[in-house]
Amino acid sequence: MIRLCYASTALKDWQSEELLELLKSCRQDNSAKDITGILLYSKRTFFQVLEGDEEKIEQLFEKIKLDERHKDVTLLEKKDIIDREFSYWNMGYQNIENSDLGKIGGFKQFYDEEFNPAGFVAHRGVINPLLKLLRGKLVGQVKTSHDELSESHEDPFIRRLNRTIRVGVKFLALLMVGVIFLGIFDVMYVIYQKLLSPPYYLLTINDILATFSAFLAVLIAIEIFLNITLYIRSDLIPVKLVVATALMAICRKVIVFDFKNLPSDYVFASSLVVLALGLIYYLMDKKHD
Ligand SMILES: Cc1cc2nc3c(=O)[nH]c(=O)nc-3n(C[C@H](O)[C@H](O)[C@H](O)COP(=O)(O)O)c2cc1C
Repeated sequence: MIRLCYASTALKDWQSEELLELLKSCRQDNSAKDITGILLYSKRTFFQVLEGDEEKIEQLFEKIKLDERHKDVTLLEKKDIIDREFSYWNMGYQNIENSDLGKIGGFKQFYDEEFNPAGFVAHRGVINPLLKLLRGKLVGQVKTSHDELSESHEDPFIRRLNRTIRVGVKFLALLMVGVIFLGIFDVMYVIYQKLLSPPYYLLTINDILATFSAFLAVLIAIEIFLNITLYIRSDLIPVKLVVATALMAICRKVIVFDFKNLPSDYVFASSLVVLALGLIYYLMDKKHD
C-alpha cells in the first residue's frame, strides 16, 4: 500500500458546488477501488493525498494528471505505508481556515506567499504537519457530529427536555464538587485520627492503606465529576474516561483487599475485571495515538 501526495493549480476559481460535484464522483470511484485520502482546496491550489493499492493509485494519478481542470500537477511524496491516515474517508475535503494558520510553524508565511505546487516543493517540511492538521480536522468533524442532548433538535419538545436534563447534569456537577470537598476533609480527618491513635505520630501499614483508600475515593469523585461535565459537551464520547474511572474504582478495592479473609473466587473475579478494564483502556489509548 502507498500514500501519494501532490499539489496542482486549478485553471479557474472553483465554487463550492463544483467542488462538491467533484468530491461526489471521487468518493464513488475511490470507494470501488478502496482508495482513501483527502482533498484540500484553497487559493486556486489543490493538495491531495491518495492512499491505497500501489497500482490503483498510480493509475488514478495518471488520470488526474491528464485532467484538464487543473495544471502543474506536481508529485510531492510517494511512499510505502502500513496504516492509512484517512482510512474512513474515500475522499475527505478540507479548506484552510484562519485558525489553522498558527498551528504549524511557518505555515502562515507559506500560505500567504507560496501556497502553490512550487511552494510545496520548496517547503516539503510542511507536508507532514499539514497532513496531521487535516486529519485532526476530519476526526474533529466526526466527533462534533455526535450530538447528545442536542439544543438544536428539530422537535421543540425534545429540545426542551434536553435543556432540562442539561440543567440537571449541571446540578449533579455542583453536588459532586461538594462531595469532593467533603472527601478532602475526610482524608485530612483520617490522617489526623491515625496520627493521634497509638502508636502516636506514626502511621502503621493499615493506617496507610486506610488513608490511600480515602485518597482514592476523592480521586474517583473527581473522575466522576469530569464524566458528568463531559456529558454537557456534545462533541465528546467519554468512554475512555468511564473505563478509567471503573479501573480506578476496582483498583481502589484491590489495594485494600484483606486477602486472609476473602474467598479466592472473589479475588479471582476481581483480577479478571482489572485485567479486562486494563486491556480495554490500553487498546483505546493505543487507537487514540
Ligand atoms: C483536483 C482533482 C482531484 C481528483 N481526484 C480524484 C479522485 O480522488 N478519484 C477519482 O476517481 N477521480 C478524481 N479526479 C477526477 C479524475 O481526474 C477523472 O476525471 C476521473 O477519475 C474520471 O475519469 P474517467 O472518466 O477516465 O473514468 C480528480 C480531479 C481533480 C481535478
